Amino acid sequence: MTDKQGQEQEQVQASPSGVWATAVGVAKVRARETAREDALFRDPLAQAFATAGGLWPSSPPLPDDEPARRRRSAVAFSIVIRTKFLDDLLRQAADSGIRQVVLLGAGMDSRAFRMEWPEGTRMFEVDTSAPLDFKASVLRQERAVARCERIPVAVDLREDWPAALAAAGHDLTVPTVWIAEGLLIYLPEDAVDLLLARIGAQSVPGSRMGLTLGSRGVIERFGADAAPGSAASMWVSEMPDNPVGWLAEHGWDADSRTLRECAAAYGRPIDTPPQREERPGGLISAVRR
Ligand SMILES: C[S@@+](CC[C@H](N)C(=O)[O-])C[C@H]1O[C@@H](n2cnc3c(N)ncnc32)[C@H](O)[C@@H]1O
Repeated sequence: MTDKQGQEQEQVQASPSGVWATAVGVAKVRARETAREDALFRDPLAQAFATAGGLWPSSPPLPDDEPARRRRSAVAFSIVIRTKFLDDLLRQAADSGIRQVVLLGAGMDSRAFRMEWPEGTRMFEVDTSAPLDFKASVLRQERAVARCERIPVAVDLREDWPAALAAAGHDLTVPTVWIAEGLLIYLPEDAVDLLLARIGAQSVPGSRMGLTLGSRGVIERFGADAAPGSAASMWVSEMPDNPVGWLAEHGWDADSRTLRECAAAYGRPIDTPPQREERPGGLISAVRR
């Protein structure tokens, strides 16, 4: 390949589009959080992902677009809180002895690089090839070095991803901690159920799982007048009324937290009172029975 062709290829990889563009938007939020003195986590690669995706430095909000600005900042807040929630869940899983991690819809998740991992930890990052290629080009540029064994698995989660994961070396005989962060809201409900069934089939007892679910009503509140191509315009599924019961049917002992509960616990309380009856939360931790 000539240098020019190589540059063109990097250019193509730096053009997020469709659902995976949302992963770069998430990186932008994490870059902003990283810049705070009281950051709940630090993600030193996030700014590089956002920059390569054309989202950094970000443009100032339009002055007459207050409702959209409020919605964006609510989504950004939820991303920060869920990131901390899942960081803690992963640390607890590692402390419990789990050495196998699978990130479903990994996007620009940089936990392999930014967190400490016990020796022997293997992390599988499952996503489609376009975001994984984009990510690889930024990681090369940043000379990033993973702190565990990191194994990207390029496959569409609507296809036979368990076979792809097995081919990449996922070991069915030892516990796994599964993360589906900011993913399920993009999958129709039958696809979410299928995904859960497949995760269960690959999880020995003691495996763990961290999920984020779209809260009830979020699609109507955020998605209805969302700009075409924006993350909210692609949201299609919300959490069931009883997420803990739903997960029990799938063979998991689960606990659900609201954003409000977690935000308060992390020292970022939500000051406004709830506008509607508080429902079960969409931040889920679960253990395989
Ligand atoms: C909002 S991003 C979240 C990324 C990452 N989990 C995080 O929180 O940083 C959603 C991710 O899910 C991935 N995704 C959505 N549908 C998918 C599918 N059918 N197969 C594989 N990945 C998918 C997208 O490519 C994208 O990277």
